[in-house]
This record gives sequence, structure tokens and C-alpha cells, in this order.
Amino acid sequence: MFKTSRIAEIAIATVLIAGIAGASFAQDAAAVIASRQAFMQGVTRMSSAVSTAAAAGDMTAAKAAAKTLDDGWKAFATQFPAGSDSAAGKTRAKAEIWSNATGFKAEMDKALAASAALVAATNGTDKDAMANAVSNVNGVCVSCHNDFRGPRG
Ligand code: HEC
Repeated sequence: MFKTSRIAEIAIATVLIAGIAGASFAQDAAAVIASRQAFMQGVTRMSSAVSTAAAAGDMTAAKAAAKTLDDGWKAFATQFPAGSDSAAGKTRAKAEIWSNATGFKAEMDKALAASAALVAATNGTDKDAMANAVSNVNGVCVSCHNDFRGPRG
């Protein structure tokens, strides 16, 4: 009798713990979705800040802006944990991000490389190189969206 109820208690506790873990994962997924969307909404503004500062001759500000952008891309690259898909919240992230993880990583690596190149360019004095680096950073969007971003919901 004691044994049976003890087992039942353990079973109930296990279900409760699993439920709590599930709820906190759902919150985490919602937070990660919100932060990757916020980066996407601000990314063009962030690369413009680099060009604007460089055009004004303020290379200190340009460098800082490039670093902010690069930090954003690095964080963005970590913001697609398994399960942060449309089952977890309102997201345009396609299932292919996880089913074709290699392809998604290739797109992400292109963005990271372009962003790292922009940081490097802001350390130099070559204005054309900087302008090219900005336009490369702005050129990584479409191919990733074509394969990995779904339609507006
Ligand atoms: C490596 C892939 C990748 C790259 C590169 C990329 N995006 Fe995205 N973008 C996505 C994905 C995936 C979503 C959907 C995110 C979601 O809804 O969770 C998205 C969503 C967006 C959104 C909609 C955000 C929202 O609030 O719903 C905008 C705007 C956007 N991207 C702009 C850009 C711009 C501008 C660039 C280039 C400078 C860019 N993206 C580069 C993958 C990418």
C-alpha cells in the first residue's frame, strides 16, 4: 500500500518536473525568437551606422559600430536552438534550419565572415574597402531568407 502510493507520488512529481521544464523551455524559446527577430529588424540600421560614422571621418565610431554589428551576428548565430520553431511561437524560421543544418550554417558563416571583414576594414584606412565590406554585409540577406525564412505570418 505504502509502496504503491510512494510510486504514485514519484510518478506525479516526475510529471510535474517535466511540465515545469517544458514551460521554461517554451519561455526560453519565445525569448530567443524575440531576440533574433529584434536583431534582424535592426541589422540594416547597424551597418548604416558604420558607413555614416566612416563618411563623417569618425573611425573610432565606425569601429565601435562595426563591433556592435559583429557581436550581433555572433549572437544571432546561436539563436536557433532546436525547438525554437513555429511550435514554440510566432516565427518565420523554416523547418529547413534544423533539417538542413549544414546549409543553414553555410549561410550563417557567410554572414559572420562578411561581418568580420567589415570589422577588419574599419581598422584600415581604405575607404573603398570599407564601402565594399558594408555592401557585402548588406548582401548576405537574400540567399538565407530564400531558403530559411518563411512567409510573413
Ligand atoms: C543566416 C540566415 C539569415 C541571414 C544571413 C539574414 N537573415 Fe533575416 N531572417 C532569417 C530568419 C531565419 C528569419 C526569421 C526569424 C524568426 O522569425 O524567428 C529572418 C527574419 C528577418 C526579418 C523579419 C524580422 C521579424 O521581426 O519578423 C527581417 C526584417 C530580416 N530578417 C532582415 C535581414 C537583413 C536586412 C539581413 C541582411 C543584412 C538578414 N535578415 C540576413 C535569416 C537570416
